[in-house]
Amino acid sequence: MMLKRVGIIGLGEYLPERVLTNADLEKMVETSDEWITTRTGIKERRLRDKGEAASDLAIRAASSALEDAHLEPRDIDLVIVATITADMPFPSVSSILQGALQIPRAACFDISAACAGFVYAITTAQQFIAGGDYKNALVVGAETLSAVTDWQDRDTCVLFGDGAGAAVVSEVRSGGILSACLGADGSKGSLLMIPAGGSRQPASHQTVDQRGHFIKMQGNKLFKLAVTLMTGAAQDALKKAGLECKDIDLVIPHQANMRIIMAMAKKLNLPQEKIYLNIEKYGNMSSASTATALCEAVKESRVKKGDIVLLDAFGAGLVWGACVIEW
Ligand code: COA
Repeated sequence: MMLKRVGIIGLGEYLPERVLTNADLEKMVETSDEWITTRTGIKERRLRDKGEAASDLAIRAASSALEDAHLEPRDIDLVIVATITADMPFPSVSSILQGALQIPRAACFDISAACAGFVYAITTAQQFIAGGDYKNALVVGAETLSAVTDWQDRDTCVLFGDGAGAAVVSEVRSGGILSACLGADGSKGSLLMIPAGGSRQPASHQTVDQRGHFIKMQGNKLFKLAVTLMTGAAQDALKKAGLECKDIDLVIPHQANMRIIMAMAKKLNLPQEKIYLNIEKYGNMSSASTATALCEAVKESRVKKGDIVLLDAFGAGLVWGACVIEW
């Protein structure tokens, strides 16, 4: 039982301007627009400028979320950034963001929950605020996946993009987060990883030669797990909220693959018009996918006051998370 109602009071996003189309990829690896479109639903993705880091994207998305919430930096007392492509091992992206936005004294930490990172971060902020010690949390999903993508590997390089989305999470008078279910199966972590660059395999000439600093993925195995786990997470979160699939007005799914999303929708018996998609424009931006999709859905008036929104995500770990929000 939550002590306070907690919800999202402002949203923002930032997508880098540089666009990489499927036609551009055809010149880089042996692939085709037809293969990428039919197998994934992706037509193009955004790429950061060289030297642009996750915090640069986060700062712009977070500023716009603060403006949308009509809050000043001094009103924020908690900053959480979900990312797997931090500027550097430390300091955290949240600390860099706090410094850049001149948010005085706010607690800062990053969350590593890959593509489910934004759902994990929103849920974490909810707990902090419901507990009563914090008032306003700035929650960001920010990724520069192009920095860890192997541009010679057609199995993965067609899938990912860069971007950031942000939310301000605070106490609300009505609606808000009705339930959240987070979970993980760490035994399957090897299906999606960046093997080198941490304490297991610190950076060396050998790790660079072996291309160990790039994303390694077993796509086919992940596909089936993603459908099952995202469906299960949605059902668990709905049950916890005392709702059924038919009560959902809009699903904001993680945007890894159009076919994963549609298979999940079919299992949940949800019509396509209740699923929000931005994968065609941006590809998979890990934690930034659900964050930007929620922001765009609200901007486009696909979400109205009183609507039931389901955030549902799955990613490396393996981790998953779903969250039911009354808007
Ligand atoms: N262009 C053309 N052909 C490609 C290709 C590309 N970019 N990438 C792979 N292929 C080929 C494969 O080599 C394979 O060829 P083969 O049959 O001659 O061996 C064929 O296409 C089919 O490969 P497969 O891996 O079975 O395709 P798929 O239908 O599973 O689609 C993914 C591949 C990666 C798009 C899909 O598995 C997927 O989206 N998985 C989930 C990934 C994911 O969610 N990751 C992030 C989790 S948050």
